[in-house]
This record gives sequence, C-alpha cells and structure tokens, in this order.
Amino acid sequence: MTIDLARARAETPGTGNVLHFNNAGAGLMPTPVMDAVVGHLQLEQDFGGYEAAARAGAQIARTYDAIAELLGASSEEIALVENASVGWLQAFHAMLGNMTAGDKIITVEAEYASNYISYLQAAKRHGIEISVVPSDADGAVDVDALRNMMDDRVKMIAVTHVPTNGGLVNPAAEIGKVARDAGVYYLLDACQSAGQIPLDVEEIGCDALSVTGRKYLRGPRGTGFLYVRKSRIRELEPVMLDLHAASWDGQDSYEIVPTAKRFENWEFYTAGIIGLGVAVDYALQWGMENIHARVVSLADRLRASLASLSGVTVTDIGAEKCGITTFIKDGVAPADIKSALAEKRINVSVSQVGSTRLDMEKRGLEQVVRASVHYYNDETEIEKLCEAVDAL
Ligand SMILES: Cc1ncc(COP(=O)(O)O)c(C=O)c1O
Repeated sequence: MTIDLARARAETPGTGNVLHFNNAGAGLMPTPVMDAVVGHLQLEQDFGGYEAAARAGAQIARTYDAIAELLGASSEEIALVENASVGWLQAFHAMLGNMTAGDKIITVEAEYASNYISYLQAAKRHGIEISVVPSDADGAVDVDALRNMMDDRVKMIAVTHVPTNGGLVNPAAEIGKVARDAGVYYLLDACQSAGQIPLDVEEIGCDALSVTGRKYLRGPRGTGFLYVRKSRIRELEPVMLDLHAASWDGQDSYEIVPTAKRFENWEFYTAGIIGLGVAVDYALQWGMENIHARVVSLADRLRASLASLSGVTVTDIGAEKCGITTFIKDGVAPADIKSALAEKRINVSVSQVGSTRLDMEKRGLEQVVRASVHYYNDETEIEKLCEAVDAL
C-alpha cells in the first residue's frame, strides 16, 4: 500500500492553514487523534475525571497495546509518561543506580543535550566516566570504533537514534549487537525516530527506549512513553516511586510493581494518553514501512532542491538519512529565515549548538534551519518552501 495522500491531507486539517515542516518539533495532529482527546475531555466535563477514566479503560489499555505493536514489544514493557525526557531519565537513573564510581557510559557525537547533561551530572555526582564514540566518515556512529572501546568498565551505551539537528540515522541495531555481546545496558533515545522509521526492539536489542508523542507520531503534546526490556525490569529500580509504581504493603515495607508501570506515576493526562494510542494506531494503519518510504523520498527531494539553490548548504550527515533536513544560507541568519518563512505560513525551526554541542562544534555550526517533512507533506509544498528560501 502507498500512502493515500488526499486522505492523509483531508484528515490533517492543519495542512489547509500552513506548510508544516516542523514535524520534528510537533507533527500536525490528524482528526481521529483530536477527536479522541476532545471526546475524552468532554466525558471528563460531563461525568468527572475519575469516572471518565473508568469508562475509558479499554482505550487506555489499547494505548499500551498499540505502542507494544509499534515496537514489537509486549504491553507490560511499556510505561506511559509525560514526554520523552521523563521516560529517558527514569531509565537512565535506574541504570545508573546499578553503577559505581569509575564505571563508564559510552555515548555518541550527536547526543541530545538533555541526555548529555545527565552524563555530566552522573560524572560530577557519582564519578562516572563519559566516553564518546567517534563518528565514521559519513557522520554516523562508527560501530567498529565502539566495539574497540568496550572494556570491563563500560556499563552503559546510550545513543540518540536520530538527532534533533539533522537527518542522520544512527545504526541502532549494529550498536545493539555490541551492547548485547558485552552484556551492558543499552539505552536508545528514539524521540525523533518513532513515527517516521520502523522500530523493532528485538532487532535493535535495546534495554530501554524513550519516545515522545507529539513529534513524528502526531500525538498530543504532553505525552510520551518508555519501553523497558522484560528481562531488565526487575533489576531497574526507579529513582522515584509513588503508590502507582509500588504498593505500601506493610508499615516498614513496599513492593515495586513487576512491569514497566514502575516507571509511571499515578496521575495521568488521560485524554492525551488515549489520543496517543489513537495516534499510534493511525500510524500503524498507514504502515510504518509506507510512512518511512514516503518520508525518506520527500526529504531526499527537499535536500536536492535546497542544495541546488545559490548560497544554500544542506548540513545533514550520515549515509542513512530520515525526514529531518537542515540547511544554512549565506548571509541570512537561520532565525531570520525562520521568521521570514513564518510570514508566508511556512513552519520550520532552528536547531542551536546547545542542543547537540559535540556534533555542532565539531562541524563549526552555531545554528541551522530545520525543515522536517512528514508523509502528509506534498511536492508542491516542497517547491514553495524552496522558492521562499531562494527569494531571501
Ligand atoms: C533527540 C531528542 N531526544 C529527546 C527530546 C526531548 O523530548 P521531550 O521534549 O518530549 O522530552 C528531543 C526533543 O526535541 C529530542 O530531539
């Protein structure tokens, strides 16, 4: 099946208002997602929040099942959280709890700022050492170099699959083989890849994987999830526990739930969680392979068109690329490009050095314009974007 573009756009009312190239920021919500969120908020208004949640038990359960289906996981390996950062932090700190001073975390050049800040904090507070795998000639993680860096002190490999600042796709499954062979934790930040690239946690071999709802999955803001491999769940104690994650089973004792729900807390954005499940089902219904194929072909087209413009340099790296396209233009600041495009109702964003410092500094980049395509974008929109960039 290919994507029925007319239907995809009809079910994405935002395409009538804007040319949306900020899917790596937040994708445009499709109508079924919006209807599910609003429908549940209506129930809350009409019957009460707790009572509405009780009525929506099946939809909430479906969100876990849909995410499990998306990842090739089981529902008990899924925790629903507020955003990708919370999911990632929960997994990271639980893993860190099993590490001691002198242990090493290996990460990558395109690592996301929030993750790297946590490594720096772990170094400062717990004496953990940080090592960064060099990239290969194309800019992706050099897996051979990673393998050579493994020693007894390495306890965790933590990788951003698709960085916030470009089209690079890191070789998640190859990295997983190294982690499996060494028996160390493998934490994958799939925030920018979920919803545009098919993900299979068995193939990838990660122990934990974090995702946000609002980006390529096109779910509501304020939603996210964490996958944790079943065989790892019991050894990973969350740093924060409430009465949902654990039960107070005696005056001096508590018991942590045996599933990934131990990484959740009690209060939920129920409407958002239901909307997230509908968003995942919506993606599954198009088919992740179909979505991926169209996103990659649109992004290739955009890169080629941008590269043909005078003064424009495409700044994406990596042999394998995805829907995130970044560029700079001689003599025009990225922030000015963004605002000039916004006046024409073209949405792009700007990636700053502080979001992926190692990679950006290495390449001498301070800021880049980020135009991230999704399957509902069309070729005419790409032409209009390029004409507008050319006119600046
Ligand atoms: C690679 C990467 N990881 C994590 C995050 C954080 O996601 P969230 O804002 O949902 O916490 C982002 C956000 O842009 C990101 O690009």
